[in-house]
Amino acid sequence: MATWSNFNLQNSASPLMEQIIFFHDHTLIILIMITILVGYLMINLFFNKYINRFLLDGQMIELIWTIIPTITLIFIALPSLRLLYLLDELNNPLITLKSIGHQWYWSYEYSDFNDVSFDSYMINYNKSDINNFRLLDVDNRIILPMNNQIRIMVTATDVIHSWTIPSLGVKIDANPGRLNQTNLFINRPGIFFGQCSEICGANHSFMPIMIESISIKNFINWINNYS
Ligand code: CUA
Repeated sequence: MATWSNFNLQNSASPLMEQIIFFHDHTLIILIMITILVGYLMINLFFNKYINRFLLDGQMIELIWTIIPTITLIFIALPSLRLLYLLDELNNPLITLKSIGHQWYWSYEYSDFNDVSFDSYMINYNKSDINNFRLLDVDNRIILPMNNQIRIMVTATDVIHSWTIPSLGVKIDANPGRLNQTNLFINRPGIFFGQCSEICGANHSFMPIMIESISIKNFINWINNYS
């Protein structure tokens, strides 16, 4: 989860988020190189001696400074497309979780099982409880098995919401009258937090998402004992 003074991306808990972080770092390195080059050239302008003030064009240099940025952009565009298609890939999911956005809470349905559905509201912060997370804790957590492909269906009932979990690399809009699909693969046990990220009204900030990732054995146990 995000903690104080963390300006970077959260640690990844899924293979797709790992790929997103790799792409972010790759693009940032290119960005830094461009910034340094342009910064150097701009500083040099201050020390211009006006030697070439009658120079109007130069075919060769214009050819070079057109082609080099083109190649640079290709080095960003191709990994970006690879990532885009990778994020969309979903093969043979174990279970499907349907998450429905409401003003202002999420409700969840485990459509593979009979009558496994619940609402998930934010709960008040409790100072004396060390396992209570301010503005991120909910009354009913999403329980999911780790190391399995999980399909997520996302929709909403009133306005547009967005089901977003940074550490899992998931961010998908919840639209009324539409059903969006995404996928997720959690590669370790733990609790993962998310928040709505479409401005959806007065309590937009107060509809957090909380996923509890457990082993498949415990997950089956949870489903069996669900009342
Ligand atoms: Cu729901 Cu913002």
